[in-house]
Amino acid sequence: MKEEQIYSGKAKTIYRTDDPKKLIAHFRNSLTAFDGKKKSEAPKKGYYNAQISKKIFEMLESEGIRTHFIEMVSDTEMLIDAVEIIKIEVIVRNIAAGSITRKYPIEEKTHFKNPIIVFDLKSDEYGDPMLNDDIAVALGVATYEEMEKIRIIALRINRFLVEYMDKVGLLLPDFKLEFGRKDGDIILADEISCDTCRLWDKKTGQSMDKDIFRFDKGDLLKAYEEVARRIVPDIFE
Ligand code: TMP
Ligand code: ASP
Repeated sequence: MKEEQIYSGKAKTIYRTDDPKKLIAHFRNSLTAFDGKKKSEAPKKGYYNAQISKKIFEMLESEGIRTHFIEMVSDTEMLIDAVEIIKIEVIVRNIAAGSITRKYPIEEKTHFKNPIIVFDLKSDEYGDPMLNDDIAVALGVATYEEMEKIRIIALRINRFLVEYMDKVGLLLPDFKLEFGRKDGDIILADEISCDTCRLWDKKTGQSMDKDIFRFDKGDLLKAYEEVARRIVPDIFE
């Protein structure tokens, strides 16, 4: 049973339920970029992202990776475990794109031999500054053991997702993960969707993700729908 709203982020709103161990995440149609400086709405965006996330969470669970996903309660709402969110954005990069090409002398589309993991502090106020383990521990956002666990889980998720996306005709240059603490364990939280991944069509190289909105690259909904058709074809039957 959905009760009052406890938190509203840029793309999802979180509600309490009658069970303190469970929350409901509502995937909204709102879109933001550049720390919320650019804003818009896109009908059905919440639906596609919720359905894509659901499918990916289910597949990761089958791979033995714990996620906060429990079940869908509507087309755009998922029941999730209440976790203590770790205030770190975990970015995994396979192909150079986005901020890494602006901050470092790396050409866009460079394929990295080894995936790169970057930890950023989740803080709009400070512009999500990059962390290393020592800073994360000094700030009290995570322990050394948690940082190591997160790195291992992020790499496992990456291995699975790169292979899966390849099968559906998509390259995965990079994506962002968030984790939470539950019963002494670290579990995957947040979402994995077109808002949080870079996805490039294997044939055309076209962006099929939020970069379309960030950089005005075309029809966002058409691209999100196409990704949904490849990942969750059953919702179109
Ligand atoms: P970046 O190249 O802008 O640093 O983004 C790296 C990846 O992280 C990209 O797949 C988009 C995703 N991302 C988020 O999900 N949320 C964010 O706030 C940012 C900045 C990036
Ligand atoms: N989600 C972030 C924001 O709204 C940034 C991004 O995804 O580009 O500001």
